[in-house]
Amino acid sequence: MDLDTLLQEATDAVAAAPDLESLAVVERGFLGKKGSLTAQKKLLGSLEPDARKAAGQALNDAMATVAQTATERRTTLAASAEAEQLAGERLDLTETMDELQRGRAHLVTQARDRLEDVFVGMGFTVAEGPEVESAWYNFEALNIPEWHPARGSFDTIFVELGEPEQVMLRSHTSPVQIRTMENQKPPIYIVAPGRTFRTDTADATHLPAFNQIEGLVVDRNISLGDLAGTIESFVHAFFGGEVETRLRPSYFPFTEPSAEFDISTPDGGWLELGGCGVVNPNVLANCGIDPEEWQGFAFGFGIDRLAVMRYQLDDIRELVNNDVRFLRQF
Ligand code: DAH
Repeated sequence: MDLDTLLQEATDAVAAAPDLESLAVVERGFLGKKGSLTAQKKLLGSLEPDARKAAGQALNDAMATVAQTATERRTTLAASAEAEQLAGERLDLTETMDELQRGRAHLVTQARDRLEDVFVGMGFTVAEGPEVESAWYNFEALNIPEWHPARGSFDTIFVELGEPEQVMLRSHTSPVQIRTMENQKPPIYIVAPGRTFRTDTADATHLPAFNQIEGLVVDRNISLGDLAGTIESFVHAFFGGEVETRLRPSYFPFTEPSAEFDISTPDGGWLELGGCGVVNPNVLANCGIDPEEWQGFAFGFGIDRLAVMRYQLDDIRELVNNDVRFLRQF
């Protein structure tokens, strides 16, 4: 093949190489040890000395030209490869968000946090207990023996672990009273918020998994007046000063006397919030606390219901539908 044609082919191939790797292959194909231009050197030997000199010169020039175009092509290809990489790694630091999308605490979490703040402000500490309990903590130590009719009113969800112990999802937060008194000497001032469970079917005012907050005070010379005062202070701190409270006689095995407490509504009515009372001496004794020396009061109410009242929701199930359009409003 004549040199000019070969040179043309080589420069065309170099120009057409799409990337650095194919360029290297093209270069080797023409200028490498076994390259087609390199091979032309062998042919020079058969020429007359003068012709050989001219042909050698022409071949060197051609090879130098190909090498030069290849170098130029390599520079171009390297530059565009770098530009491509930079474009891929580019971060637009001037980008702005139209709306700042922040998450927020769930309504029930907000109510629970607020309650904790209010009670901590009144000198209480926050206690916790397990969600799965034995019959001792959920019932017996709270003065609800096996035969007691009150057991039936708790609609308990049992966990089948077999004998010998009866195990259940706690049906109220009252077992935390027992756990606290077993582990702590009086004076005791605690609140225990947490999840509780009953076999209830969900409707506008019930959830089978709900939240309660328990309060327990054990100290010397505690009276029903201290209980009423504590409930009033917390209701004012939580709902505002215009909301009133009242106690109505009721019955709970773990308190004697017992009461239910209501809060006033804007339309002049009353809404039941929870139960309370003076801790039954049997309960203190069950936890190794001498009822002659110490007295206590306790209360318990639903946090979800509190959120429903505070935000005037029509249906408690709104709290668990997890519709962000609803939750975002609070
Ligand atoms: N544990 C009761 C319930 O879930 C509520 C309650 C009533 C708690 C009176 C108390 C109490 O601590 O003294 O229905």
